[in-house]
Formats: sequence, C-alpha cells, structure tokens
Amino acid sequence: MGNYSVLFEPLDIADIRLPNRIMMAPIGTNYCTSEGEVTGRLTAYLKARARGGAGLIITEGAYVCRNGRESSNQLGLYDDRVIPGLSELAGVIGDAGSRLFVQLNHAGRQTLPEVTGSELVAPSPIPCKIMDKEPRALETGEIEEIAEAFGEAARRAKEAGVDGVQVLAGHGHLLNQFLSPYSNHRKDHYGGSPENRMRFPLEVLSKIKAIAGRDYPVSFRISIEEFIEGGLTIQDSIAFSFRLVEEGVDMLDVSGGIYETGPVIVQPMLLPRSFFVEKAARLKNAIGGKVPVAVAGRIHDPAEADRHLSQGKVDLIAMGRPLLADPELPLKARVSRESEIRWCISCNQGCMDRMLMQKDITCLGNPLCGNEDDYELTPVQDQKKVLVIGGGPAGLQAAITAAQRGHAVTLYEKSDNLGGLLNIASMSPGKDVLKDLKGFLVNQVKLHGVEVKTGVTADLSIIEENNPDKVILAAGSIPSVPGVSGIDNEKVVLAEEILAGNREPGDKTLVVGGGMVGCETAMFAAEQGKKVILVEMLEDVAFDLGPFYKAMVMRKMEQLGIKIHASSQLIEVKDGKAILQSGEENTEIGDIDTLIIACGYEPDNRLEEVLAGKGIEYDVIGDSKEVRKMLDAIHEGFECFS
Ligand SMILES: Cc1cc2nc3c(=O)[nH]c(=O)nc-3n(C[C@H](O)[C@H](O)[C@H](O)COP(=O)(O)O)c2cc1C
Ligand code: SF4
Repeated sequence: MGNYSVLFEPLDIADIRLPNRIMMAPIGTNYCTSEGEVTGRLTAYLKARARGGAGLIITEGAYVCRNGRESSNQLGLYDDRVIPGLSELAGVIGDAGSRLFVQLNHAGRQTLPEVTGSELVAPSPIPCKIMDKEPRALETGEIEEIAEAFGEAARRAKEAGVDGVQVLAGHGHLLNQFLSPYSNHRKDHYGGSPENRMRFPLEVLSKIKAIAGRDYPVSFRISIEEFIEGGLTIQDSIAFSFRLVEEGVDMLDVSGGIYETGPVIVQPMLLPRSFFVEKAARLKNAIGGKVPVAVAGRIHDPAEADRHLSQGKVDLIAMGRPLLADPELPLKARVSRESEIRWCISCNQGCMDRMLMQKDITCLGNPLCGNEDDYELTPVQDQKKVLVIGGGPAGLQAAITAAQRGHAVTLYEKSDNLGGLLNIASMSPGKDVLKDLKGFLVNQVKLHGVEVKTGVTADLSIIEENNPDKVILAAGSIPSVPGVSGIDNEKVVLAEEILAGNREPGDKTLVVGGGMVGCETAMFAAEQGKKVILVEMLEDVAFDLGPFYKAMVMRKMEQLGIKIHASSQLIEVKDGKAILQSGEENTEIGDIDTLIIACGYEPDNRLEEVLAGKGIEYDVIGDSKEVRKMLDAIHEGFECFS
C-alpha cells in the first residue's frame, strides 16, 4: 500500500461506513435525459469513479423541482419516474464497493427561464449579475412547498437505495440565497436576522428528516465565504453549521463562492491549491468534531490530501476534477503507482467551460471522460507499423493510444524535448501545473514501449527509412508574424523566446497580440518589474480563455499595471517606435526596448504534401491540422486509434 496514514482509513457518516476518505465531489455532467433521468452514460461515468476507488460518490446537483433546474440535461429528483434509473445506479455503485449520495439542489436565481421553463424565483427580486434575469420573490407558501420538495426528493433517493443525500446550500443557489444578506432582502420571518435567513435551509433539513426518516444520512454543502462585499463570512457559516449540527445534520462539506465569484468555486490554475482547507479546519474546530467535515477545492494530490487528514484539519477529501482526469487516482495512490496518475491541470477547458455553455462535460487530458463505455483500448488484430511525427500533446497521445492498441510505434520530435507547446506554456505565471500533464504523457509513452527519437527532424528520407504502414502528422504549429515594415528588427522577439528564457524583456515592453499567449507573456514581463503595454486588434483581450480563467487573468493584468490598447493594429516598427492604427487614427508608442510578437500560430503541415505524393496512409492531427485548443489536440490524438 502507498505511504498514506489516514487517506485509506474508513470513516462513518451516521451509520454508513465509507471504505476510505476520498469522496467524488458533485460535478454537473449534462449526461441525463431532458427529463432528468439517469442514463447509461451517467452510470458508466460514475461506475468508473467508484471502481477507481473513491469511497463516496456524490452525484451532481439534482433539481428537486422543475423551476430549480440549472441545465437542460441535469439529473432531476422531482418525480417518482426517476426512481428506477437511480436505483440501478445505486446498485452499480454499491457493487463497485463505494457509497452513493445524491446532491439535491434548487438553483433559485442562478439559472435561466429557458432552462426552467418558467420565471426565476428567489428570496428577493435581485438578479444574479451573471444571469442578469430578475427573479420573482417567493411567497411563504411556495417556500414551504420547496422545502417539501427537498423532503420528497430525499424519499425518492432512499427508495432507490441511495445511501444518503447532500443538500447544496452553497455556490449561490437557492438555499445560499436565503442565507445571505447579499441576496436576501426579505422583511418577513425568512429575512433580516441571521436566524431568519437560516430558517428556510433548516426547514429543508427538518423536512428531509421528517419524510425520509431521522436515520437517513444528510450532508450539507456550504459556501464558507461568498467572497463578495455584503455576503456571507466564515463567522456566518460557522454559526449556520452549529445550527445544522443541532438539527441533526450528519456531515458538512466545505466549498465557497457564488456564481458572481465563479473562479472561487472551480479554481483555475492561478488560484492556490487546497484553496479552502484552512477555512474548513476552522469550521471543524469550531463545531468540535461533532460531525465529519469534508472539503473540496484543488486538492489534487493524494499526498497533500493525506497531510490535511493526518493533521486533523478535515475528515474527508472531496475531489471533483482530479477524478474526471483520472478515475483511478485513488487506486493508483493506494498501490504506489502515483507516477501513473493523469493529473488534473485546473484548466476547466473540458469541464466547467463546457458546462457553462450547457454542453456535456469531458476532460482535456482524459478523452475517456464521459465516453467510458464507448471505447475498449485492447490490442487489435491488424497491427501496424506507425510513425508519429511530433512530440507535442497530440502526437504523444496518438502514440500512447496506438501502442495501447498493439501497434509498433516510433515517434520523432525535432527538438530535444517532448511536450511541444506544453513546455512553453508551463513557463507562464501560475501554469507550472502543465508540467504534470507533460510528465504523465511522457511517462505513458515510455510505459507503452513507444520508440522515441528526439532532436531529429522527420523528412522524406526518415519516413522511407521507417517504411511505416501509417504516419500521424502532429508537427504542431509555427508562430505567425505580422508582415509589417520594420518587423525584422533585433528588438522584435517571439513570445516563445521570452517564455523559454532565451531572451529577456526590456524595461519598456510592447506585446502584440492579446490572446492567451500574449496576456501570459505580458504578465510574465510585468512580474519582472517591466513596464508592459499590450496591443490587440480585436475589441477584447483574453478572448480565447474560458470565463473563469479570463476573469482571473484580467484581474491580475490590472494588478500588474499592464496597459491595454484594444482595437489597435500594429502597422509599422521604426526607430524603437511602434505605430498603431485604431480606426482612422494612428498612435506612436516610443522608447520601446522589446517588442514581443504573440499573434497566434499557423499549422505546420509542410510534410502533408510529401506524404500524399508518396501514397502513404496518413492522418494530420492537432495544430498541424488546424490551430485550436489543447483539448482538441489530445482528443484528436486519442481518436486516431481508439
Ligand atoms: C463541471 C463542474 C460541475 C460542477 N457541478 C457541481 C454541482 O453540481 N454541485 C456542486 O456542489 N458543485 C459542483 N461543482 C464544484 C465541484 O464539486 C468542486 O467543488 C470544484 O470543482 C472544486 O474542486 P476540485 O478542484 O476537486 O474540482 C462543479 C465543478 C465542475 C468543474
Ligand atoms: S478539463 Fe482541465 S480542469 Fe477539467 S478535469 Fe480535465 S484537466 Fe481538470
């Protein structure tokens, strides 16, 4: 067994025994039917996490009434029709050795009328700034009906054989809206004093206990702080937790934030790891260990998780995205195979960014996430000699999958290092976590016996020498350089050269291109105390980032004093000056020490013509095919041979 002192110890929640202290945090998937029923896809996805060793699985938030629905293919528990599907799921999870709780939720004002099919409801008619739709204030009778709906939903879960329920009283949803002075401005006995604001969530708890039985385990998930002026503080949350414990709650699960402070809920890589642990420890201490306390939030490393447990900070570690990236993380840790863990890099590209677009989730690094039953990665009959050209994310993944299918694979990479753009990207501020993904891919290539040749540029003679049955062209991309007068100047450098440390940014640096690479390079230079100006021809910068990461990047650029010129195009470089055109006007920026080019990339598909000419079977994948996100590169690499 791996070197863990508490992580694999059992834990009791009420009279339910969990086999270990790893809990799959609730993650909305959009895998259910439009009526909220469990599908085979949801079952296969959760089964993989249970078989992978998570002791407790918490489902995504299930809506308890239709006007509390948050996404179109969300799990629902509003009607008895969902019981059979849920019952099958409970059986599958139990057979895999885990316990199952269903999370119950009502989104209140944090949804859209298009999704609920009716007007939004909330404690007070105050819109959530993200949704920007004014809700109607609930009548007293309606509040009682919703509390009843939570009770009925718990009854359905119990009838289906689910081990317990978790009530979502955080993340800015309806119960959180009642608790918070920020969103609850009611004048009746549900608003005003802390006791009044707690009334509805406590009524929900008592309804569940009354309808599903006092012994039926109930966990509450709370936002320990809302991180917004006038919102809930840790003191408020501790006071609420005291009351929950008095009223018989069986477990507390600490998270934080509301939709208006979204990145705090699903922390991008710029936020620290173990984000809520110290706050959860304060809460556990305050309630005197009366019920188990769980915590989520970028606790992605089992060693770190074990440390929090062994220091008595919390009783249970919730992992959401880490188990999307690698359902077998618990098992691998248990048998000391940590080097084989596919780490979550907190990019949100496959999960939260897709969720926000009402799409089904997946994972950037794990193409099997959400497709668990669709692929079998066993050796094929027709084994081929495969040549992969390019050792970036697409090429590495293609090589791994090809080798898993039994093909004999040789990979050529022109530079001395595998990893491609991962090497450069991991040098941007706060992105060193990308090295974990590279480490995983490189390790898998080795484990699967791929023959790797670095420092060799593949050309026709190399292809002919290898005599492959199939070539995968994954040569990546080449930086685009604007063809303006004076660009051929010693002060002009590529963003990659700066990030790789081959060139230093000067005291006054102009970055041309406001996409992800431009923003990150601008931050990299500004963190070294340089004066930085960022120029972008579009109206907006950071346009290619997901909303949560973008919010963090914009805040950080402001803190670093980076000056942004949007809707401006570089038209000339002359005598240390950059001439920018914005509409009809030209602006001159003088005394520039370094001009950094971050104007995107073009596919490097130069070998395609050669391959086509020779009649060799080939696929072009990743940026070589079309410059896109890393998720596309890895998933395309996987699909070549899956
Ligand atoms: C795609 C996605 C959907 C989520 N859906 C829910 C949800 O339904 N209920 C909930 O309480 N938290 C939800 N969360 C938050 C996670 O449970 C977790 O608190 C958060 O991702 C931070 O933990 P992690 O770093 O281990 O992922 C979601 C997170 C993601 C990425
Ligand atoms: S998409 Fe990114 S953040 Fe989401 S689980 Fe995968 S690696 Fe983690």
